[in-house]
Parts: sequence; structure tokens; C-alpha cells
Amino acid sequence: MRIGSPKIAVIADALLGSASILRMQSQRLDEACPSTSARWFTLRLAGAILWLTSFLAPLAAQGQNEQPFALPAPPEETVQLSNSQLASPAIEGRVDALLGQMTLEEKLGQLVQYGASDDPANAERTNDNYAPGKNPEVHNKIDPMDLAAKGLLGSMLNVVGAKRTNAFQRAAVEKSRLHVPLLFGADILHGYRTIAPIPLGLAATFDPDLVESVSRTSAAEASTAGVRWFYSPMVDISRDARWGRTHEGAGEDAYLGAVMARAYVRGYQGGDLSRPGSVAACVKHFAAYGAAEAGREYNTTDMSLSRLHQFYLPPYKAAVDAGAATVMSAFNALNGVPATANSYLLRDILRTEWGFNGLVVSDYTAVMELRNHGVALDAATATRKAFLAGVDVDMMSHYYDTQLPGLIRSGQVPMAAVDEAVRRVLRLKLALGLFERPYAEGPEVTAAAPEHRPLVRKAAEESLVLLQNRPFNGGAPLLPLLSARPHKIALIGPLADDAADVLGFEGNDHRIEGVVTVKDALEAREKLAGGSVLYAQGTEIDATSEDGFAAAMDAARQADLVVMAMGETAEMSGEGGSRAFPGLPGNQQKLLESVASTGRPIVLLVFSGRPLVLDWAAEHVNAIVEAWFPGVEGGSAIADVLYGDTAPSGKLPISFPRATGQAPLYYNQFPTGRPLFSFDSSSQNIRFFSRYIDVPNEALFPFGYGLTYTQFAYSGVTLSRTAVPLSETTRAGARNLIAATATVQNTGNRAATEIVQCHIRNLGTSLEQPVRSLQGFKRVTLQPGESKQVSFDLGFPELSFYNNAGKAVIEPTHYTVWIGGSSEASEGADFDVAP
Ligand code: BGC
Repeated sequence: MRIGSPKIAVIADALLGSASILRMQSQRLDEACPSTSARWFTLRLAGAILWLTSFLAPLAAQGQNEQPFALPAPPEETVQLSNSQLASPAIEGRVDALLGQMTLEEKLGQLVQYGASDDPANAERTNDNYAPGKNPEVHNKIDPMDLAAKGLLGSMLNVVGAKRTNAFQRAAVEKSRLHVPLLFGADILHGYRTIAPIPLGLAATFDPDLVESVSRTSAAEASTAGVRWFYSPMVDISRDARWGRTHEGAGEDAYLGAVMARAYVRGYQGGDLSRPGSVAACVKHFAAYGAAEAGREYNTTDMSLSRLHQFYLPPYKAAVDAGAATVMSAFNALNGVPATANSYLLRDILRTEWGFNGLVVSDYTAVMELRNHGVALDAATATRKAFLAGVDVDMMSHYYDTQLPGLIRSGQVPMAAVDEAVRRVLRLKLALGLFERPYAEGPEVTAAAPEHRPLVRKAAEESLVLLQNRPFNGGAPLLPLLSARPHKIALIGPLADDAADVLGFEGNDHRIEGVVTVKDALEAREKLAGGSVLYAQGTEIDATSEDGFAAAMDAARQADLVVMAMGETAEMSGEGGSRAFPGLPGNQQKLLESVASTGRPIVLLVFSGRPLVLDWAAEHVNAIVEAWFPGVEGGSAIADVLYGDTAPSGKLPISFPRATGQAPLYYNQFPTGRPLFSFDSSSQNIRFFSRYIDVPNEALFPFGYGLTYTQFAYSGVTLSRTAVPLSETTRAGARNLIAATATVQNTGNRAATEIVQCHIRNLGTSLEQPVRSLQGFKRVTLQPGESKQVSFDLGFPELSFYNNAGKAVIEPTHYTVWIGGSSEASEGADFDVAP
């Protein structure tokens, strides 16, 4: 069917215009008489008209060869606006006043974002041939300072530092006609100057309160450098170790991802965006970017609506529900429609279903990239598609400023829709208090702040995951080392004294001053105890030369313990960091094997932004600690754990594969009709089951797994009832339908913290459900011998699943609940939802 006509455009434009007028009217009514039925009627009418126009306007824009636009669902009466501050009538009054004075050029200026071409961090890239993602403001000869002074620039990207931001801000505030301040946004994901572990490491803490504190600290530091908008949290679910951006997120699980997403938003924004030290969060990348096929960066994603809603959307939704002020559209296509032109994602789900009332920014040149996706033949079409799909701000494409005037003139984009996008930018700036306090505030934080170091040290300690801890020559496990006793340690490996990679890839101008390396920390400990550290780098991270091997083996032979610090460079993770072979890079595996041949006990510290394939190490090395990229206090935290000052408590937020060929690998997989039961798994001779013939199905280390220096025993999983009537589950917001309780006891001889996890399985459903999925966790600290009862309340959110209409449902089915210390928990109990 072909639809689209100028007439519809005119109608849509008129309707959008009247909806805006009605909204303003209703505001006045609101002030005059807050509870009249006239106000209610006006609001409903404005809502209905806005809803009508949301599909009429795009209909009008359909070209000859395009798919018909799908009719969005009408807004649900119960949907709350996601951020009440952005809905404040006081702010809206100021927005109206400003908008009324703006020229079209000034309005469009608010909808574009550029970096600063003279930024030293960008300078080396500016000579490259022009390609998507490489400083288009340089290529297009854009002078952001000039634009700011003319009031033709809304926001800036990755321009940080009080001096730099203030210079641009002065131009905008003092020289431009309407004095609208700029908003400075930056990729600050796990600390500004006091760098905490990468987000994947923060997820391994299973400690949302800690993540909230780290986020609040990082917001406070960055706001002293003029940055009031973080392109964070990155909440993309990743089930594939090959994908480099795995390090930026919370791993493979929707529940944990949602908990972490909420923590970041709360930390960044607090309850009040205008509070000094707060920044607006930008949830990215909407949506399903982490499902890139084959783990290859920017690749397409294709999935059922059930999978999308159940496994990929919950973290974005949690961030929106927590009040996130902005959302970034993703680079990838979802089911054939690029996310940046995807009105199902950006309008139907985000705005209509979730009530999101913040602003949507594109990813870097993503509007332009619609042409590379093949869904737009020219810049105008790319602009129209992105804008009408719901992208308010164009990051770096240089399209909204050049293309929207023509699209407005020809009626393909209604002026009222442009006004609405500008409103969203202005609302955010007003809510942040930028009009009152436009400049960087307080003494600028330019280096890791001493007062923030204990917090990031704690975060690093909690992020470490003890993957393996076997005895050497019988007896006790190798770790912890006895801190009072002097050791002769051979410290080997390219990450042992590396102050740069441990900070991770994503961030602005990370500074290595003040980083505590493993070498610094172990030397300090052994000096105190009268021991020694023999350091031999052995090899580079990604090298072929074996020149350093002999010295490393020599050091190992002289020592009573070997600590090997191995892993990736920071650049091997992050954007554009997909790896087909995510093992130890270069010749590190060979070095590890050579050192192991000396027969000395080995503790392997793994630094990585993703799960690495560690199958050989798991078989041959006594102890393995996953350290991620642990930040400025990484070395101290590692020493705290190795010497047992702190018992490790981190658990894996993502499964570690045995072989790359297992990817995508995740614990909450679906069953098959030919499952391989555990009693079969050791046999090499069975065929016609869902299995590999050359590697076990299971992860080497599964989601939720992590050891410590004691043991925990679980017993007596009980449920508050054995059946839940279906009728109870359908009541709106049904919470606490059933409680599951277990006893957990510390059966070892030292205190430690356990992450108690609650997993469920749902059988008999109309759509198959995962073999188990996390629906709750609690951090519990127990003294030796101590036990505690731990309970989980399960309600609609935990017990429901999404059908292929994207709706959450509970059916009369059978459930199993397990409580334990990993996704392999075996203590469980059953109940039914009765018809
Ligand atoms: C990344 C985003 C980032 C943006 C701005 C893009 O390439 O995908 O995550 O926020 O650049 O630096």
C-alpha cells in the first residue's frame, strides 16, 4: 500500500499546532482552576490530538517506496510521565516564553550537537579521510565557537574541563541573542578523574548502593569541569564475549541489568537535576545494540518481540522509570529498521508505553548512517526518518541544521514537531539550572580525588571475582596469602605494572597519575612483611617476541609463589573492539604455559573488558582472579583480596565460555526438544542431542558464579504457599504474590559476603521460557558458623513473561524457585499459578 500526501501533512501540522495550543491552554486552566472538568477534557483532547498526529505526520512523509507506517497504540490512561521535574509547569512557562522569541535557525541550533575540532584529544584523528564517526565538524568546516556565539548550537560532545567548557559557554551565554546556555555531554561511564572499575566490573559487585555512590561521585567530579550530561549508563545486554562493548554494560542478565541501570540514574541525577553536582543521565543505546550478530560491532540485530521485551528492554525501562532525562538511539538495526529511524522503539515503546518525557539524542552520526543502512537515499530522507521516528537531537551528522529547513518548507516535517523537540532541549537545560548557573562549578577536579579513593577501592574489591582457588601440593587453597608472612613473589606479565590499561577504554582523557598498579601494591606489602617481589614483564600484551620469557621463568624458579597479571589492552574492549578470538592476546598464553612448566604455584590475575576463554588456565593454574579493568585503586584492591584483608564477594555478571564457538552463551537459555541431561554430558558417544561434539555445552564459569575464602551452605527453600490463584496475579501492579525463603549458612572459618540469588523457571507456558532466570538477589555478610534466613518476594514483574505482542502475562503454569550462590543453585521448591 502506498500512502502519503501533502494534504495529510497539512492536517497533521494543524493538529500538532492545536495540540500545543491546547496544552498551553490547559496549563493556564491548571493555574486558574486545577480540578475542573474543563481542564481534564482539554488535556484528554490534547492527548488524543497528539496521539493522532504521531501517526498522521509520518504518514504524510511516506515516500513512494516506503513501508506504510504502523498505527501506534493509543496512550494508556495509567502511564505516568517518566520525569516529573521535566513536566514542571514553571519550567514550561519559561520554555513557552523562550520558544516564542526564537527564529527557526535558533530552534534548529538547539537540535544539533558538535564536538570541538581543536580538542587535543581529537586532533590526531582530524587528518583521517572522512568517514562516519570521525569528527564531522572538521570535515564540514564547522566552527562551534562561532555557532555558540550566534545561538546556533545546543550542546557539545566530549568537550571537558572548566576552561574549555566555560569558553564555549561564555560565547553562548554572553554573545548569543537569547543567551541560551550550552549543555556539555560526555562519555563518562565509571568515574571522571577518580576512575572506578569498568561497568562490567561494577556489575560483578551486585551492589547497587555502591554503584549509586560511585555514580554520584563521578557526577560531582565532572560537573566541576562543566559537564552536566553523561552518555551513561550503557545498559545493553550482552551475551557474546566477542562484542567489545560488553565492558560498558552490566553483562548478560536483564534483572541485574535493570538493577544496575536504576543505580546509575539515581547516582547521576539524584532527585533533583538542578542540584549542584548532578548530571543528566543518557541511557544508551536504545535498543538491543548488544545483540549485534556474531558479536561484530554495529551489526544488525533480529529478534522476536518476546525476546526483545523480556531480555533486552528491561534495563532501559528501569532507567526510564528511575527518571533518566535522556535516551540515545542506537546504531544497529532491529528487525530491519535502524534504531535511529525506528518509531516502534522511539515512539510506541519509549513515549507511548513508558511515558518517557525526556529528550532523545542520536548516536554519533547515526542520522547520516541511515544512508549506509540503505533506508535513505539522501540526507533529507535520513533526516526526516530520524526526526519523525523520534530523534530530537542530531549528534554530529550535520543534518538537522542543513536538512530540516527544506523539510519544514515542503511540509514533510511539521513545525509543531520541531517546536516539541526544541522544548525538550530547553526543558532539560532549565531543569539542570543551566540558565542560572551555566559555568563549571567549584574547584575543578583534575586528578583522582583523595577523598573518593576509598570508595573506588571498595568498588574494585567488590568487583573482583575469584574464579578458581585450588591447593598447591595438597592442603589449603592457595589463597589468601598470609599477610604477616614474608613471601618471595615472582610478579610476571604485561599488566603487572600497567597504569593505563587498568583504567579501561571508554572515558575522557583518563589520567594515569596516581594509579596503583599490582606491582606498587605487592611491593609495598612485601616490604612491610620483609618479603620480596621479583618483577619480570615477560612479554607485551599483544606481541610475538619471546625475549622476556627466560627472565620470567628465572624469576618464577626463584620464587615461592608466582602472580601473573595478564589480559587485554583497554582498546581491545570498547567501541570497535570486537574480537573473534577472545582469549589471552599475543603470546601471553605461551608465556603462561612456560611459567607453569616451572612447577611453581600460580595466581593468575585476568584483566579484561569481557569474558576471556580461559580453558587452559582453568585446568593448569591454581588460582584465578578476574580483575576486569579495576581503575585507579586496582592494585590496592587486588592486594587486599590476595592477602585476605577482604574476602572476595564478586560474582560473574556474564558467562565465561570454554570456546569462542559457544557464543552467544548465556545461562538463561531456552530449552530444546533434545536437551543433554547431566547424566549424558560426560559421554562422547551420543548424537542427536543439543550439544557440541567437541566441547561441553556449559560455560567454563557460569553467570552468578564466584568463590570466596569460606563456603556457604543453602538449605530449606520454602514457599509461603503452594498455589497462587491466577485472579490475584492480574490485579494491577500485583506484588508479593509469593515469598521464597532459604537458610544460608557460613560453614567455613572466616567472615565473608555472599550474593544470595533467586532463580525461577516457569513450565507449561504458551511460549517456552528459560531454563532459569534471576529474579532477585541479596548481599548477605555472615560470620563463621552464622546462618540467616533470606527471603524474596515474587510478584508480577518476577513471575510474568512477555508474549509476542510485547505484553507481560502470567499464565496458569508451574514454577520452580531456586535459592543459591550462582545460576547453578540446586536447592529449590515448586508452586503453581492455579487457574
Ligand atoms: C558511541 C556512544 C557515545 C558517542 C559519543 C558513539 O560512537 O556509540 O556510546 O556516547 O559515540 O562519544
